[in-house]
Amino acid sequence: MSDTPKFPNTSRRGFLKAAAGGAAAAATAGQAAAGTPDPAITEVQPWAQGFGDGVDAVPYGMPIEHEAHVVRRNVDWLTADVISSINFTPIHALEGTITPQGCAFERHHSGAIEMTKQDYRLMINGLVDQPLVFTYADLERFPRTVATFFCECAANSGMEWGGAQLQGAQFTHGMIHNMEYTGVSLRTLLNETGIKPEGKWIYVEGADASSNGRSIPLEKALDDVLVAFFANGEALRKEHGYPVRLVVPGWEGNLWVKWLRRIEVTDMPTESREETSKYTDLMPDGRARKWTWEMDAKSVITSPSPQAPVRHGPGPMVITGLAWSGRGAITGVDVSLDGGQNWREARLAAPGEQKALTRFYLDHVWDGSEMLLQARARDETGYVQPTKDQLREIRGRNSVYHNNGIQTWWVKANGEAENVEVS
Ligand code: MTE
Ligand code: CO
Repeated sequence: MSDTPKFPNTSRRGFLKAAAGGAAAAATAGQAAAGTPDPAITEVQPWAQGFGDGVDAVPYGMPIEHEAHVVRRNVDWLTADVISSINFTPIHALEGTITPQGCAFERHHSGAIEMTKQDYRLMINGLVDQPLVFTYADLERFPRTVATFFCECAANSGMEWGGAQLQGAQFTHGMIHNMEYTGVSLRTLLNETGIKPEGKWIYVEGADASSNGRSIPLEKALDDVLVAFFANGEALRKEHGYPVRLVVPGWEGNLWVKWLRRIEVTDMPTESREETSKYTDLMPDGRARKWTWEMDAKSVITSPSPQAPVRHGPGPMVITGLAWSGRGAITGVDVSLDGGQNWREARLAAPGEQKALTRFYLDHVWDGSEMLLQARARDETGYVQPTKDQLREIRGRNSVYHNNGIQTWWVKANGEAENVEVS
């Protein structure tokens, strides 16, 4: 039939059938229009008795005050010092896939610095034919590309290695954001300088005191790396690297250098502090994994979750979350209601995009009993997101970074949800 609803379990027909069956209001997601008059409908409301705000009231808008809870948050014991710390994206309260800049997590090693476009310089030197310095105005004259990518801190979910700990998707999985970037391909700029045959790596650093220097193999630098100056259609916010940051699709957030000031072409990796003492993974035998740049496929149910409990009774409900892979596109997400014993394929809001967040839904009719909710992502390489136990078998418990194990939320009959582990 041409009017077949796209959404299997929440079709209008499904709702009406449930209502006609008289199976109590609990089986429907709406209310019968009969009964006592509802003053919210029958009374002229205050907002209809006068004028609203004029168009000049707020030249640049903020979210309405009723959404004031949708904000970045810290974990107190993690935030040793706010200038060298991290906060978390409220993924439990966002929808779709794009993260607004205003609530996208921040990670600074020495605080967010303020710079003007006029003061901005990008130097490319080292094993190049012609070292060059670009001003912001220079960068604006190169051909641009637009693409959406997730940026995930390697430490995302790092506090969960020892067991279920933080109560909320914001805290367990919120070191991630997903923005539409506009910028110049790094390949274009490296073509300008030329690369000597010995050039095999680049070393990228920021203008902040920490400089956050990292090495990137030339192959990646010439592939999909962007020198970006717009995010979600507007200039980068100060905290995300205004006026220019590096975008390194699919690779750990630490490589996404903000306030980008220098790119040196080298013959070897630089072995900076950020890639020797940090951002390596200590294995059970005492050795460390190095150069773990790619972010493995991962997913999390954002609602319901501890900060987003179920606030209605049995009947239709939306189970939703995010999935992503640093190796390419998400091809599918499975959802389990019973801690991983049985799986159902979730509906992707749109086909998975390269190295970007994918929104998934399970349109479920809840019987009101408790659930052990899990999501499991699959990507185009055939990789399937592992359980936490599978991950620990190989990686041990000493790691901080690259925890992409399956998350479990215990949703109780009263709708409250808790971070737990099942084995
Ligand atoms: N770049 C500079 N110059 N200084 C920094 O402290 N932090 C890095 C990276 N780039 C950092 C930086 C880390 S660890 C991460 S996870 C990302 O930026 C976070 O980007 P965001 O603050 O836009 O979320
Ligand atoms: Co980071």
